[in-house]
Amino acid sequence: MDLTKRPRRLRTDGIRPLVSETSLAPADLIAPVFVDATTKKRIPIESMPGHERVPIDEAVPRVKEVLETGVKAVILFGIPETKDERGSRAWAQDGVVQQATRAITEETDAYVITDACLCEYTEHGHCGVLEAGAPEQEHVTVDNDETLDLLAKTALSHAEAGADMIAPSGMMDGMVGTIRTALDGAGFEHVSLMSYAAKYESAFYGPFRDAADGAPAFGDRRHYQMDPANAREAIREVELDVTQGADVLMVKPALPYLDIVASIRETFDQPVAAYNVSGEYAMLHAAADNGWLDLEAVAHESLLSIKRAGADLILTYFAEEIARQL
Ligand code: PBG
Repeated sequence: MDLTKRPRRLRTDGIRPLVSETSLAPADLIAPVFVDATTKKRIPIESMPGHERVPIDEAVPRVKEVLETGVKAVILFGIPETKDERGSRAWAQDGVVQQATRAITEETDAYVITDACLCEYTEHGHCGVLEAGAPEQEHVTVDNDETLDLLAKTALSHAEAGADMIAPSGMMDGMVGTIRTALDGAGFEHVSLMSYAAKYESAFYGPFRDAADGAPAFGDRRHYQMDPANAREAIREVELDVTQGADVLMVKPALPYLDIVASIRETFDQPVAAYNVSGEYAMLHAAADNGWLDLEAVAHESLLSIKRAGADLILTYFAEEIARQL
């Protein structure tokens, strides 16, 4: 046996850090924060241990907790006081995300990203206005072009409140271009866009839908979110968002879609984000609670793998825990 080549030579404690190809830093991470207009006190989210919905006047203290760990960016999700057919509280000037954004940008240095979607704001829980006939008729779904106008209004209201970056997550065709045009037309050229560019119709969003109260009341999201079977389609989706002015390209979920992260990284020059979603968080917690996995270790390994696949930034419910470890 010729053993002149021995890979184990590079695995001693002394050299491992020197030849490490990937690293994680608090600056890579974005922490999701849930702000709830219906409550006066913090409410724990059962399926996402360690996370809470906080009332509007707790948004600043909550973000300060995140900043103390070294994480500098948050993404805000809102639970409105009321829902309606079109999701009108999504673009209200005194809406939950708008109020929270104003307070956070005035009182902290956090980089504030807002999720722009209608599913938390519509009473039917879909990500836009329903086509005529829904939900009684089968195959009736969200009206794409009518929804675009509402997404533009929502994004504009977030920018007016001081958001640094807006993340449209509804998977409507043309949403990035429509929002970019609306922002530029109102003097918000400096506000950046992170598109949920390749967002799959995934069962891993379950706990989030509890957390943000955004589960569809009927049907599912397969008419607008991507089919988990498709990889080439992700390239076409992302290409469209790049053309329309997306600054950061997101893949979601993360761990089951690392092949997509890697191919987007190779195909495009823009920064790539991956969303380590609620179900990815919940399953590790559930196993750890049974004593079957070491939570700190698997969380770290998960995020490291997402970076190794090519993500520059990671949205993750582990942000604070991992930042503290680092
Ligand atoms: C809103 C939105 C969802 C998530 C982020 N933004 C839910 C969905 O599309 O059903 C999911 C995040 C997670 O599971 O952590 N459209």
